[in-house]
Amino acid sequence: MEIEKRFSKMSKRMKSSIIRELLRDATNTSIISFGGGAPDPETFDREALAKLSQGVLLDEYQISLQYGATEGDPLLKDELIKILEERHGIKGLKHGNLLITVGSQQALDLMGRVFLDEDSYVMVSHPIYLGAASAFRAYGPKFITIDLEDDGLNIDQVEKALKELDSKGEIQKLKFIYTVPNFHNPAGVTMSLEKRKALVELARKYDVLILEDDPYGELRYEGERLPDIYYLANGENVILLNTMSKVMSPGIRIGMIAGDEKIVAKAALAKQGADLCTPTFTQRLVARYLQEGTIFNRIKSAIEIYRKKKNIMLDALQKYVNVEGAKWTKPEGGLFIWVTLPEKYDTMELFEEAKKVGVAYIPGSAFYVDDRVSSSFRLSFCLPPEDQIEEGIKRIGKLL
Ligand SMILES: Cc1ncc(COP(=O)(O)O)c(C=O)c1O
Repeated sequence: MEIEKRFSKMSKRMKSSIIRELLRDATNTSIISFGGGAPDPETFDREALAKLSQGVLLDEYQISLQYGATEGDPLLKDELIKILEERHGIKGLKHGNLLITVGSQQALDLMGRVFLDEDSYVMVSHPIYLGAASAFRAYGPKFITIDLEDDGLNIDQVEKALKELDSKGEIQKLKFIYTVPNFHNPAGVTMSLEKRKALVELARKYDVLILEDDPYGELRYEGERLPDIYYLANGENVILLNTMSKVMSPGIRIGMIAGDEKIVAKAALAKQGADLCTPTFTQRLVARYLQEGTIFNRIKSAIEIYRKKKNIMLDALQKYVNVEGAKWTKPEGGLFIWVTLPEKYDTMELFEEAKKVGVAYIPGSAFYVDDRVSSSFRLSFCLPPEDQIEEGIKRIGKLL
């Protein structure tokens, strides 16, 4: 059978991800990998989770080993609502405003499923989180790309693009503006308060949705916490995605969508067809863990680990990358540093050379929805041990 001919249009739009390939390299111990965004396993609270697992399995087996509601475990929703209220100032959320997902990656896919058609537009930053680009691309929308600056999206470009769509009578085809306001993946930058407010104003004026994706907000190493876009907009026209992946464990695969009840209900319908429900065991485990109230202490120690690693990487870049015109972001949090070299460099080409000297990063071109050559690359400092961070950057410096 010529199987290729049987595949759907959607499946043909799916491309193999360089990140997946790099994750394969990351397991090769001879390579120092600054590739994937996998958290440092030392941050995982394994003893507490092992203890709680016992009770969740033995005492709550009728829930934790059974099918659950597609919408999610009510106990977990209670805990998440509490956190959103106490730490994010978001009040008045009900269970109907939350959907528990298999990581925020599933949330991104569900947003694609419920909003995007082939004639839709999505507005995204350039560079963009690769996983969001692949999730949306599968549904065939047109991307409107907005430059990312040191303080977040270029708001003038956003406004211009909105005006243009509006004047063509196509504003309703713009399904959402996707943004990662805190410690952007891959760029490391954070959207300023002024820009957050301006974005909320624009979304209101043109009546468009903002899809706010915030996996890294709790991982702040310096500076002041900024309010969520969702908070600033009073929840109006904003959908908020969050996840336990970077602050607790990515293997547990718990994420969430918070937003208008109608959107959440539609996403739940889409989720039903995908997987019936998020694993009930990990949902209940996370609920019990959050009830213990120790997660924020744990995050504090993770912050210590990551701040140190980030500073080691920044110092090493300063010391070893002596290329005129090279620059890099100095993130206040999150897991990534974005390095930009002079234009003559093609970091995809360089990537093969880097592997030969035993170091890996993600070439910048992976984070653009067009086929550009990029002189940037993403470094993540979360996974390699401290001594390897310096050694890896030294190798990159020498190669350059
Ligand atoms: C910006 C962003 N969104 C979503 C995700 C997906 O995370 P998960 O599915 O593990 O919650 C990631 C993971 O790296 C990310 O960086």
